[in-house]
Amino acid sequence: MENILDFGQLHHIQITLASRLIRCIEKFKTLPEVQKYPDLTMILNDHSEIGLTEEKKMITINSEECTRCGQCISECPLGLIISETGGVPRPGENIENCIGCGHCVALCPGAAISLPNELGDVREISDLTLNMNGSSIPATQILNLIRQRRSIRNFMKREVDEKILQNIFDSLAWAPTARNGRPVHWTVLMGTERVKGLSETIVRWVASQGGFYTSFAKAWEKGIDAINWSAPCVVVAATEADALLPEVDSTIAMTSFELAAVAHGLGTCWAGITARALRDNEESAEFLDIPRGHRVCSAMMVGYPAVTYRRLPPRKPVPVRWKAVK
Ligand SMILES: Cc1cc2nc3c(=O)[nH]c(=O)nc-3n(C[C@H](O)[C@H](O)[C@H](O)COP(=O)(O)O)c2cc1C
Ligand code: SF4
Ligand code: SF4
Repeated sequence: MENILDFGQLHHIQITLASRLIRCIEKFKTLPEVQKYPDLTMILNDHSEIGLTEEKKMITINSEECTRCGQCISECPLGLIISETGGVPRPGENIENCIGCGHCVALCPGAAISLPNELGDVREISDLTLNMNGSSIPATQILNLIRQRRSIRNFMKREVDEKILQNIFDSLAWAPTARNGRPVHWTVLMGTERVKGLSETIVRWVASQGGFYTSFAKAWEKGIDAINWSAPCVVVAATEADALLPEVDSTIAMTSFELAAVAHGLGTCWAGITARALRDNEESAEFLDIPRGHRVCSAMMVGYPAVTYRRLPPRKPVPVRWKAVK
């Protein structure tokens, strides 16, 4: 009986074979002889049509560490973990739908559940300084951070420390994304002169657009970079072509980035015209070498603020409807 593979093992073998076959197909597609036949290339381009999916998200449950508490079963948002009454849980038949969210891994009291190493390391909450279960989150401070963030359009002539940015990007691996897709890719343009070079490509583009955009070209003629406000750094968020909700995922990521940057004493400003140009103007996209399959969603200027605000500007109350059912 020991030699019989269970469903999980079989699925793992299927996944491994599928991903190897996909790699072979990708190589095969590049052969000039194959490219002569468009119909064949079309079929080879669609792995799912020939019954192949590359699936790397697959939990493993170590029965020796499992205390049979059952928490993973109720935690999985897709109900993918099952158990025969009282037994050690196991991945159910629909485990290929696993989104790799890691909630089962994060919750298991016996540390019995693991995901493939490629998805990243597991870290203990006790190693982090913020205790989410106690009263150590300074809620007022976070609310004031949201209130006091302003769009900075006047930056010091001081370069941004790469380590600070890398630290922020590392934390964004835990920002929420639709179906845990993690589709956001970042590009960082460092240095005032390089940012100026990017702005130049955008000025040429806006000048040809007319209307609302003309003022940016006119400002440039007067020596004002009203596109990226002479920032020493611009960061760009782009998403993979097949992302489920690309605009939402990238906006969450960029908003998280912005608040973290402000918490580090940096100033930020959403660079909407830059984002549009990187999407629609080939010269700007080439300047940053944005990969062909990526869609730019947003861009942000980053630098140290050369301005200090003394008060919050007025804002109307946020409209909220409280629906109470009697
Ligand atoms: C745009 C967006 C849509 C989402 N939609 C759903 C949803 O309909 N149902 C759900 O249970 N979770 C939803 N989520 C949560 C994601 O599945 C979750 O962020 C991801 O699995 C990572 O888990 P974490 O947020 O606990 O890190 C959504 C997240 C985002 C960003
Ligand atoms: S959460 Fe962990 S210990 Fe509890 S049943 Fe699931 S695998 Fe076993
Ligand atoms: S990683 Fe998430 S989706 Fe996958 S089995 Fe665990 S809880 Fe379910």
